[in-house]
Amino acid sequence: MSPDNSSTPLVLQAESLAKSFKTPRGPLDVLTNVTLSVSAGECVSIRGESGSGKTTLLQILGGLDRASSGELSWNGEQVSGRSNAFLATRRARWLGYVFQSYHLVPELSALENVILAARIAGQSTKVTTPKARELLARVGLEHRIQHLPSQLSGGECQRVALARALINKPRLILADEPTGNLDERTGEDIMALLLNLAKSEGVALVLVTHNSDFARRAERQLFLRRGELCSALETGES
Ligand SMILES: Nc1ncnc2c1ncn2[C@@H]1O[C@H](COP(=O)(O)OP(=O)(O)OP(=O)(O)O)[C@@H](O)[C@H]1O
Ligand SMILES: [Mg+2]
Repeated sequence: MSPDNSSTPLVLQAESLAKSFKTPRGPLDVLTNVTLSVSAGECVSIRGESGSGKTTLLQILGGLDRASSGELSWNGEQVSGRSNAFLATRRARWLGYVFQSYHLVPELSALENVILAARIAGQSTKVTTPKARELLARVGLEHRIQHLPSQLSGGECQRVALARALINKPRLILADEPTGNLDERTGEDIMALLLNLAKSEGVALVLVTHNSDFARRAERQLFLRRGELCSALETGES
């Protein structure tokens, strides 16, 4: 991968990523040539039609899935081709992931869900518990920390997921339709919270969304078309 010549460090660098799924009808080429660099603290949005490969791309960028070819670096360190254990360790320490359907552990309270992410990253419960409480307060859930996910609304679950994404002080958050399951008003609240938290913490954000208003709040807006990323100018959209 070519070296980064800019002064801002890159938290994410993907070069010529391709992803092909094996299907009974033959290979399905979802990503053909994705190249993307994200600088520290930068916010990038990605839009694209349903089925265009946004989730596939985000999972590859986050090391939850593997590209068929191409290279991926996190914080200047090449991670493509490394073991699952290596990816899991790095991911736990510096990357936050927010899913449309929250992905909270149903048996654990809001507080325990946030603490778990820190435990996976190797931090002790003693150190982590006050941090988790503070983060849950920042997302407006100080009165709900002992609730199970089933005892929380969708918006509250996503607030827990935001606190969980931030507990390890990540440098990058990948968010896949974080407001997709929420009503308009709640979605607006969650998006404002996510953008504000990312900015105040200096965390880079890659945001996949169908919502054009949310996408336009990013510093850079991209579209996934025919397996490649292109800018709004190239597509004629804004
Ligand atoms: N494991 C898999 N095996 C085979 N095909 C898959 C697999 N995962 C995804 N696909 C296919 O890849 C394409 C892209 O899926 P993906 O979920 O990335 O789309 P998306 O852009 O996130 O869509 P949406 O906006 O509906 O969430 C789809 O056609 C999907 O059917
Ligand atoms: Mg998707």
